[in-house]
Amino acid sequence: MKILVTGGAGYIGSHTCVELLEEGYEVVIVDNLYNASEKAVERIREITGKTLTFYRADIRDYEAMNGIFAKEKPDTVIHFAGLKAVGESVDKPLEYYENNIAGTLCLCRAMRENGCKNIIFSSSATVYGDPAVIPITEECPKGVCTNPYGWTKHMLEQILTDLHTADASWNVILLRYFNPIGAHKSGMIGEDPKGIPNNLLPYVAQVAIGKLPCIGVFGNDYDTPDGTGVRDYIHVVDLAKGHVKAINKIKENPGIKIYNLGTGIGYSVLDVIKAFSKACKKELPYEIKERRAGDIAVCYADAALAKEELGWEAQYGIQEMCEDSWRWQSQNPNGYEG
Ligand code: NAD
Ligand code: UFG
Repeated sequence: MKILVTGGAGYIGSHTCVELLEEGYEVVIVDNLYNASEKAVERIREITGKTLTFYRADIRDYEAMNGIFAKEKPDTVIHFAGLKAVGESVDKPLEYYENNIAGTLCLCRAMRENGCKNIIFSSSATVYGDPAVIPITEECPKGVCTNPYGWTKHMLEQILTDLHTADASWNVILLRYFNPIGAHKSGMIGEDPKGIPNNLLPYVAQVAIGKLPCIGVFGNDYDTPDGTGVRDYIHVVDLAKGHVKAINKIKENPGIKIYNLGTGIGYSVLDVIKAFSKACKKELPYEIKERRAGDIAVCYADAALAKEELGWEAQYGIQEMCEDSWRWQSQNPNGYEG
């Protein structure tokens, strides 16, 4: 079975390609390398000892995509490609809607033209907005997003659902990720943000390595046990394995399905700093700052449905997530460029 992975050179995509190859799938990556390095593709080959096909192409380029589908004839698409910086999306809404929405429409057109109608899509817990219930089940109503990035996920879920409604031969699995962190055990692939990281884990890792002086904790007056924000951090390898399970599901022609991919456990910002300090064996400096606009207090999953229907459950805890992040960061202080 051949899987076409858009955004496969990126953080979650590269880990997913490793798991797919190890399960015996053929893998074709399409990535424009806007936020990734071709070295990640090389490392996927090194880790697995397997071959894979890589196209440097943009999902918005219909001619290119049509040609790739016609040549490769994949069975299923796992669609990671997209822009994901929440803050940047507020400043550049057109770029975000254009890349994420127009890009997905173009991808789906090329799929339909070539008779490939199975898609697994990277959605996000951000579609729940400020969640109506905690832990968050898939039945929890979608909420109001606080930024264009979140709206692209919200809208793309609707677009892909409509695609299935119009033509029931489409199988669509929407995976709502919680907070992916960590890295492959080899320390050879991991998250490599450009510039100053926006997300907590890469920021903490860069303080640990000495590239940044101090962690800013965005608010300690939330209604949580220690006052700092609580999230459902999930090991990226667990997340990657969730995609392999989703492929098993899509083979059953399930129509439209939605799954949360989280651990079901919430950790605070201070919990994470503590776990990372233990992993890197030094105290990490932090200071309390103002709340960050658009942040919610608590977000964690009810992950029962994925367990029941996909037979998937996260294996790794917060300590291992931090240890694996630290291994990647310390072996690659400058990411793929180092
Ligand atoms: P990433 O930036 O590392 O990976 C995305 C990849 O897509 C990059 O390699 C980039 O070069 C590529 N890309 C972007 N636009 C493209 C285009 N037009 N054509 C071809 N390639 C393009 O991000 P990630 O963290 O691996 O996220 C993967 C997906 O999961 C994204 O859709 C993201 O929105 C979603 N997601 C991520 C998180 C998270 O916290 N990391 C949480 C929820 C959902
Ligand atoms: N935080 C800090 N300091 C930082 C960065 C973050 O205290 O330097 C805090 C935040 O306030 C929040 C927690 O750490 O309480 C996690 O923040 P992240 O930015 O790492 O992650 P978010 O939960 O804000 O968002 C992430 C992804 C989104 C995705 C969402 C899904 O960035 O793309 O998870 O739940 F939509």
